[in-house]
Formats: sequence, structure tokens, C-alpha cells
Amino acid sequence: MPLFAEWVNKPECLGEYNSLRQLSRTEVEKGYEKGSLEQGEFIIEKKDGSKIGYIFHFILVHPAGKLLEIGYFLVPNERGKGNGTEAVEIMVDYLFLSKDIIRVQACTDTRNVASQKTLEKAGFKKEGTMRKYLFLRGECRDAYAYSILREEWKEPKILTKTA
Ligand SMILES: CC(C)(COP(=O)(O)OP(=O)(O)OC[C@H]1O[C@@H](n2cnc3c(N)ncnc32)[C@H](O)[C@@H]1OP(=O)(O)O)[C@@H](O)C(=O)NCCC(=O)NCCS
Repeated sequence: MPLFAEWVNKPECLGEYNSLRQLSRTEVEKGYEKGSLEQGEFIIEKKDGSKIGYIFHFILVHPAGKLLEIGYFLVPNERGKGNGTEAVEIMVDYLFLSKDIIRVQACTDTRNVASQKTLEKAGFKKEGTMRKYLFLRGECRDAYAYSILREEWKEPKILTKTA
């Protein structure tokens, strides 16, 4: 929690394409408690135990509750090394293995090439442009909608199912 509170207050951790926030440690903790029933939040950790980023899933309004959206960021010096792709693949495996959903989705600023390539490498397909969907640095920005369906995922890439 202290680490996450530190990261969300650092513009360089959130990157150019996430909304900036200023949150106290108490606000971060309250947000976690309030959101934990509806979303899952994870610290991305390497095998050596170092903590390098954050990934979460949340529910969007859907009549049958069959879809989830994901978001993520890595600390700057851990980007561009394949970590983002691996974290998204693990998250997709986890969600399709553990939840009765048909679709995982994500959206990204149209300028955020790193995120788009990460999603595409993890098997997501671009669906189209959501015009003026994001509010970033004082302006409304176009975003690409991405998704992966259960039938496209087919089987786990990294995780294995346990009973
Ligand atoms: C988006 C993010 C999680 C991607 O993770 P990553 O570990 O840097 O990405 P990977 O190393 O797995 O690379 C995935 C692909 O993107 C490409 N890529 C990575 N950084 C890139 C960049 N800055 N510009 C263009 N392409 C880039 C890689 O080359 C790779 O494609 P390739 O295999 O065809 O060469 C990470 O860059 C990040 O934290 N960015 C800031 C926060 C953010 O934008 N979050 C997403 C909001 S939607």
C-alpha cells in the first residue's frame, strides 16, 4: 500500500497517458477498501521479488456481468523489457481461468504505442476509436478500444489451472 501510494502520486510512474492524481495514503487505503469488492488490484513482482508495477481489473456495466476491463503501469526503468506483455498475459490467464466472463477489454490513448503493442502481443484486437473518451492533461483525447474474447484466448499462456 505505501509503495502504491508513492507510485500513484508520481507522474513518471503513471506515464504520459494516464490521468494524474494526488492521493494521500489514507485516500489510497480507503479507495482500496471501497473498490476491493468490485475490482482486483495487484502489484507486479519479478521472480527476484522486486516490485515493478501495478495492474488491476474492474467491472463495467454489463447486463450479465460477463466482462472486465484492465489497466496497468510499470515503473519507468522496467519498461521496454517485455514485463508489460507478460503481466497482461498473466492477468488475462487469471481472469479467464477464475471468472465466468466472455471478454477482457482495455482502452488506450491513440498516441500510446507501447500500450497498444503490449495489448496486441497479448492477443487483444483493436475494435475501433472512442472519440474524446479520455480526459488527460486538460484535454479530451481519442482512445482505441481493445478486447480479447474467451474463444480467442483458447488456453492459458503462462498460468496453469489448479483445482
Ligand atoms: C504500457 C506499458 C505497461 C508496456 O509495458 P512494457 O514492458 O514497456 O512493454 P513490453 O516491453 O512488453 O513491449 C511490448 C511491445 O511494445 C513495444 N514498445 C515498448 N515501449 C515502446 C515505446 N515507448 N514506443 C513504441 N513501442 C514500444 C515493444 O517494442 C514491444 O513490441 P515488439 O515486441 O514488437 O518490439 C509500459 O510502457 C508503461 O508502464 N507505460 C506507462 C503507463 C501506461 O501507459 N499504461 C497504460 C495506460 S493504457
